[in-house]
Amino acid sequence: MLKEKVEKALNEQVNKELFSAYIYQAMGAQAAHDGFDGIANWMDAQAQEEMFHARKIYDYINEQGGRVTLQTIEEPPSEFESPKAMFEKALEHEQFITESINDLVDLAKEENDHATEIFLQWYVTEQVEEEDNVGSILDKLELIGDKGRGMYMLDKELAERSFTSEEDEE
Ligand code: FEO
Repeated sequence: MLKEKVEKALNEQVNKELFSAYIYQAMGAQAAHDGFDGIANWMDAQAQEEMFHARKIYDYINEQGGRVTLQTIEEPPSEFESPKAMFEKALEHEQFITESINDLVDLAKEENDHATEIFLQWYVTEQVEEEDNVGSILDKLELIGDKGRGMYMLDKELAERSFTSEEDEE
């Protein structure tokens, strides 16, 4: 059984995860348009992963007898100056999501909702990985600049990514 406050905050997190999917899809759309097929692929996989993050909370709310309420998804930014600017925005966004998950954990603690607190641990760990994934791509972009041969190689590397929810569950 979920307390109203916790149910509301979890629904807001569903919205934030769906918005995350929307942001990454917008980045993917620009990358595809600009000829960075590898980045577009990476962003597609990331958007799918965010849908999975949203769905996991959606299922949890239902399992706990709560009510999922879907809210308006904000329009994502759709113009990025460069691949580097794109990944900088991605990192900033993941840091925002990490804060939001941390706030949710604090709320679950305050409300003595042990089940939700345990459920959220998966997201706490996941956010470490999310920030690290984006951060390491950003490090490479800093190193190579986002043009020329280095960028070509990085784009090829990012073309290898695919998303499977089973892998993400590990
Ligand atoms: Fe669902 Fe990228 O955090």
